[in-house]
Amino acid sequence: MAEYAALMENEGRIHIVELKDEVVKHKGLGVLNIVTLLADIQIGEEVLVGQKYLTRMPTRLPELIAGMARRAQTISAKDAGSFITRLGVGSGDTVLEAGLGSGGLSLHLARVLGSSGHLVTAEPRTEHADVGLLNLVRAEKCFAEFPKHTHLEGMVEDVVPDLEFEAIILDMPVHRPAILACAPKLTFGGRIACYAPTTSQLEDCWKSCEEAGLVVEWAGELMERQWSPTSKGGMRPVNGPFGHTAFLLFAQKR
Ligand SMILES: C[S@@+](CC[C@H](N)C(=O)[O-])C[C@H]1O[C@@H](n2cnc3c(N)ncnc32)[C@H](O)[C@@H]1O
Repeated sequence: MAEYAALMENEGRIHIVELKDEVVKHKGLGVLNIVTLLADIQIGEEVLVGQKYLTRMPTRLPELIAGMARRAQTISAKDAGSFITRLGVGSGDTVLEAGLGSGGLSLHLARVLGSSGHLVTAEPRTEHADVGLLNLVRAEKCFAEFPKHTHLEGMVEDVVPDLEFEAIILDMPVHRPAILACAPKLTFGGRIACYAPTTSQLEDCWKSCEEAGLVVEWAGELMERQWSPTSKGGMRPVNGPFGHTAFLLFAQKR
């Protein structure tokens, strides 16, 4: 039996709960023994908690992301998907990710690295790392395969280990020292990706990658626009902000 369960409210909100056989407080659900509550509840079945009917869901990546513990701003599926495909991350790779933050991107990386991959994360702020590491522990219990994981405490430029990486992903406010310290650790043909919320950060990433001897392959922004059915038939873009997440930059060691 998995050690975590996913419970979905009617409007889609997901709770990830640890299956502890004791009466404890579960955020958003109340004080209860979740193991007793879910003893006869299979995936796809409903359970009444307080006034709410909750459906037991499988603990797949989208559920773990929707119900993840959060502190630092996370990288969303839109940008995570691009990182994985443009960097070509997959089984057997060794990948360096900094900062870990809430572990949003780490969950996506862990899912595709499988048991033969190695995920190395770095994070200087323990209050952020605590949240990111909790999310990774949950994922390890729920995924069929999970990579070797090494976590390093500190600024990545100070703690980058003596390993070779097929891919490095940097999401932090100041990229230059990290790029200069990490670029020598790329395998030939390996790539660095940077996540930069502002144009000045993006420019700094571009210049720093060139200074580090890398070739910038692509820099830009990914636009995502959601559509839904209208009451009178047909589909149209949903109302709401057309949001910006960050600029992405990819550079290769040649
Ligand atoms: C926006 S958060 C990362 C979020 C993460 N990518 C996610 O998807 O959940 C940025 C993190 O970078 C960390 N950070 C800042 N400078 C860093 C550095 N030089 N090396 C490693 N981490 C750093 C911060 O403490 C913060 O937790």
